[in-house]
Amino acid sequence: MQALTPRQIVEELDRFIIGQKDAKRAVAIAIRNRWRRQQLDDKLRREVTPKNIIMIGPTGVGKTEIARRLAQLVHAPFLKIEATKYTEVGYHGRDVESMVRDLVEIAITMVRGEERVRVEEKAKESTADRLVSLLLPASDDDGEKTENDKEAAKRRGRTRQKLRKKLDAGDFEDRKVEMTVEQKVMPVQVFSNVGMEQMDIDMQRMFENIIPKQTTRRQITVKDARRILLDQEIEALVDREKISQEAVQRTEESGIIFIDELDKICGPESSHGPDVSRQGVQRDLLPIVEGTNVMTRYGSVKTDHVLFIAAGAFHRSKPSDLMPELQGRFPIRVELQDLTKDDFLRILHEPENALTRQYQALLGTENLEIQFTDDAIQEMAEYAFRVNKSTTNIGARRLHTIIEKLVEDISFDAPDMTDKHVRIDAEYVRKRLESITADEDLSRFIL
Ligand SMILES: Nc1ncnc2c1ncn2[C@@H]1O[C@H](COP(=O)(O)OP(=O)(O)OP(=O)(O)O)[C@@H](O)[C@H]1O
Ligand SMILES: [Mg+2]
Repeated sequence: MQALTPRQIVEELDRFIIGQKDAKRAVAIAIRNRWRRQQLDDKLRREVTPKNIIMIGPTGVGKTEIARRLAQLVHAPFLKIEATKYTEVGYHGRDVESMVRDLVEIAITMVRGEERVRVEEKAKESTADRLVSLLLPASDDDGEKTENDKEAAKRRGRTRQKLRKKLDAGDFEDRKVEMTVEQKVMPVQVFSNVGMEQMDIDMQRMFENIIPKQTTRRQITVKDARRILLDQEIEALVDREKISQEAVQRTEESGIIFIDELDKICGPESSHGPDVSRQGVQRDLLPIVEGTNVMTRYGSVKTDHVLFIAAGAFHRSKPSDLMPELQGRFPIRVELQDLTKDDFLRILHEPENALTRQYQALLGTENLEIQFTDDAIQEMAEYAFRVNKSTTNIGARRLHTIIEKLVEDISFDAPDMTDKHVRIDAEYVRKRLESITADEDLSRFIL
């Protein structure tokens, strides 16, 4: 994979996220630093630790979105967790390491997906072979013992070729074949009070292997058989050991853990009340962020170079309220800005996944053509901004409630509408939203 420069990373993020330049720059640098580190010689490479980031900003301004898009962009295994999860009773302390195990699982899924794509062509070929065997009349397959072996083989080859041609042409899709199918039995219920999460390492798989697989012979269509066989063939071709190794390596070298609500676990040291557990979570986080070995079912994972991006509003606490050791491990602080009316305007239609585009596409499936005029978008941004001001500021999430309310009727009527072209202009927006937004109580409930 081509290593992206910080500038390119920011440009890519710009396609989805409006504004927040500082945060984008910070994450871009962090990612580039990883690449830089890879270029160093062994000795120095081990010394360089990631510069973890704290994103500070109100709700709904793009913190999570930036981290998530970043991970996608560089194909990094990405896990988002809430720091407060570990302060809950029963979770406290012992389970913080599970975030690393979860991250490896994500890496496994990722690598396995790539691996499956890599072997797919080959698997398709052998699947077709097996399908032909299933289609082959039994007598042909066995051959006549008395007959000349060579002749028989030749004849079989020809039959197979013919069948294969027809199969490829799609002639047999609905033809029934008989094959053995597996039925998975999950023994989970028995251990329901343990909880899958705690059945770590290889326990889960162990149970799957102990319980005998139930198989039945069934008549199924070629179409269904192909799906099952292809899956078997792919599984046979992928190298599990290699996947595990690669996933562990990728976790260690490029994993990103996003710790949300970091502000909720910080507070000045105190010996009573919830702060005890908050401090406790910080203490438990520390070794993981500093670098430790975590045992997973795929082997031990070093967290030294995992990138941690923490986020929080930090209204009541400040990063300086964190344990000193933890502060040092998050040297980069970036503030995200409150979104302005102008930002809303842009968020509504600029990003590739912009809300207006999403709704156009969704309603497009009903053959409806929705057009948002410029002044309509302007008006929506204005309302979103106003409602955020007058009720709770939930940032860009407000746009979701606004637009949902706006298209409610169209959404309901879409399949029955005869006029397939709908133009949403400022007038329409006002008509739908003015009465709601004018009444503060009403907007608290509805928007
Ligand atoms: N600057 C932005 N540009 C485009 N979309 C945005 C922006 N900020 C937020 N959004 C959209 O708003 C929604 C919420 O954003 P996000 O999840 O990033 O919020 P957050 O900052 O993590 O908030 P919280 O503190 O509540 O977790 C997402 O759907 C996201 O796409
Ligand atoms: Mg978030």
